[in-house]
Amino acid sequence: VVNPTTLTQLDIEPQSILVVHSPSGTITDFISSPPNLDATVDQLCQRYGGDSQVTVVRLKPDQFLLPGFIDTHIHASQFANMGLGYDMPLLDWLSTYTFPEEAKFLDRDYAQRMYRTAVKTLIQHGTTTAVYYGTIFTDTCCDLVDIVRQNGQRAWVGKVNMDRNSPQYYVEDTQQSLDETERFIRYVQDTTPSPLDLISSTDSATASVVSDQDDVASLPLVMPVITPRFVGSCSSKLMQGLADMAVKYQLPVQSHLSENLAEVAWVSKLHPECTSYTDVYRTYGLLNTRTVMAHGVHLEPEEIRILKEHDVGMSHCPNSNFGLCSGIAPVRQWLAEAGLNVGLGTDISGGSSPSIIDAMRQAMVASRILHMRAEHSQLPCASDSQDESPVLTVNEVLYLATMGGAQVLGWSHRLGNFAVGKVFDALICDVSDPSFESPVPVLNPVMGWTKRLEKFVYLGGSQNIASVYVQGRCIHRQSGST
Ligand code: GUN
Ligand code: FE
Repeated sequence: VVNPTTLTQLDIEPQSILVVHSPSGTITDFISSPPNLDATVDQLCQRYGGDSQVTVVRLKPDQFLLPGFIDTHIHASQFANMGLGYDMPLLDWLSTYTFPEEAKFLDRDYAQRMYRTAVKTLIQHGTTTAVYYGTIFTDTCCDLVDIVRQNGQRAWVGKVNMDRNSPQYYVEDTQQSLDETERFIRYVQDTTPSPLDLISSTDSATASVVSDQDDVASLPLVMPVITPRFVGSCSSKLMQGLADMAVKYQLPVQSHLSENLAEVAWVSKLHPECTSYTDVYRTYGLLNTRTVMAHGVHLEPEEIRILKEHDVGMSHCPNSNFGLCSGIAPVRQWLAEAGLNVGLGTDISGGSSPSIIDAMRQAMVASRILHMRAEHSQLPCASDSQDESPVLTVNEVLYLATMGGAQVLGWSHRLGNFAVGKVFDALICDVSDPSFESPVPVLNPVMGWTKRLEKFVYLGGSQNIASVYVQGRCIHRQSGST
């Protein structure tokens, strides 16, 4: 069991047992490296009612368990554009590639086909929780919600809002944008299965084990998220109205922030009454403890202070920041100096990969570039302390991909790693391919797994994700895998 516990500490527990209660999907026991594994499994089976009540899943020798990946920023409506259009900076790219593609999502058939592809692809890559942008079209955003539920993934889903500076064929009227957002929220809430539905699907004995139904309810599989696209496409009135709605329905907010220099300059022209890009969101009430802001490449120190003050989570999207030449976010600084919560995002299709393992690699590359730049120009590094690596480490990016994401969502008490009381959102990873063998002599199993994990982060992909579990339910099994 590979378990990220703090930013720098990754616990590796060989030969361990996790007990997961069904149907709540909660971890009820975590027994690390018992002296006699088989005897302990037998005892547990007896304790929980014998073979008819218990399913035992044994990992193969080359498999390990990892918490599911959390993609904190992903446009489900941009899969067709993945790998296209990186010859343009953000604002041109939006009008040339992105808006025309998203406008197609008025068409139910097209939208359902693309959304199905998006959700299935992310699951195959090990994303157990995704924070989605749909488009401005409510009906097909509702379809996205249905598709996520059908596939058993955990998600926040946002109906995008845009009422200004947008093409005629892809824009809303302010009031219509607000009304449609409310309709979307109601749809998600009205179609959320109650925790009682979950429990009544099995025998009555289970009901007593689910000790706190409110707990189950507080962690719905699919939740709406208020989604003003970015300041450029949302009027002050719209932003204010959306902020009121976030309060009314107790919902999180997501948007884009300080991604590209031309965008930052444009926003300051649009809002002379505000002191910065971040200040615009603050002024119109969109910063709350469950706000997720993507990019943040060009933030000023005062903006970082405001983000910390409001406990806003940052989605670091390095693949996209490279693809659109947006810049490099100083993640080490966010973590070490500002203490911000940071998760990873693929930002498809600004990013070209659906894989959070890719996001981990790109985050490491981004931090290396910043480090080399500082070193070569003899600037002070974000981290000059002796005991801290100047670049993001394997342990750190594994943390950002799991626990970091959970912190950004305000759910780190319920998911993000393995602990009793958390939900079992997990991946069975497989490194049986000979390229994952380590030629370096290893002294003990933990050291061997450390090496393989390093290779998993640098070489791994969907081919290494054997099974995917959300809330204790297996939602994907790679073909040929048992
Ligand atoms: N800013 C506003 N909209 C978008 C989008 O769709 N992708 C990215 N990367 N940035 C944006
Ligand atoms: Fe984005």
